[in-house]
Amino acid sequence: MTRHYLMCRPDHFAVEYAINPWMDPEAGADREVAIRQWEELRSAYEGLGHRVSLIDPLPGLPDMVFAANGALVVGGRVYGARFAHPERAAEGPAYLKWFADNGYDRVHEPLFTNEGEGDFLTLDHLVLAGTGFRTEVGAHGEAQEFLGLPVVTLRLVDPRFYHLDTALFPLDGRNVAYYPGAFSAGSREVLRHLFPDAVIAEEEDAVVLGLNAVSDGTHVVISAEAAGLQLELKRRGFEVIPVELSELRKAGGGPKCCTLEIREAQVAVRR
Ligand code: ARG
Repeated sequence: MTRHYLMCRPDHFAVEYAINPWMDPEAGADREVAIRQWEELRSAYEGLGHRVSLIDPLPGLPDMVFAANGALVVGGRVYGARFAHPERAAEGPAYLKWFADNGYDRVHEPLFTNEGEGDFLTLDHLVLAGTGFRTEVGAHGEAQEFLGLPVVTLRLVDPRFYHLDTALFPLDGRNVAYYPGAFSAGSREVLRHLFPDAVIAEEEDAVVLGLNAVSDGTHVVISAEAAGLQLELKRRGFEVIPVELSELRKAGGGPKCCTLEIREAQVAVRR
């Protein structure tokens, strides 16, 4: 099925502050390389027939390329983001403005801190929600009430995997892949219970952000370095599309971080 993604070109990308363990402002990052790698990600989506919309990057917001954090959009309802760190605070209103400008009128300005699809991952009948580093548990309830979908809280415990989308991704509407070491004991039990047939990733694939992947149910766009995980996905019948995003990883982001999925309202067809 065709997907609709919102992306933000890394025109102002830089590593100039550190808000996660991947970021080293001393080492910095090469913006030209980041732009080239990002363009390849965008082409990969277009090559799969997906629609890509773009939001204008704003100067002074070097992490704005990580569009996944900008909102959570399900059934045409836009749950806005409210960033944990002041460095990124202005991104919340910028993304909300894009949705308003583009005709989305079911928009909720959040009361609780939450970093959009960084910590909310949507399946057919539920939303998985991370907490522990960025998103507050209060946001999970707020999103549930606004979207009318059950939201399941998962606790993250390893600072390298500070957003849920660095440790887990939906393979389709019913199943997921994840790295158990990123979760609390109770959350690991919840995951085992909900997804007995999940793909379990090894640490070596998690540390190259292999779980920061984007699946359309058939194809999985995934970090080129996550070799073991790619093999398992192929064994399960998925078509794997490796992408090289090493420069953006210096800010702690991979393919999914650069991708905000827009799930439109289902339009009832009358016959
Ligand atoms: N430097 C950004 C931050 O720490 C990276 C965000 C990555 N996005 C994501 N969806 N995991 O906030």
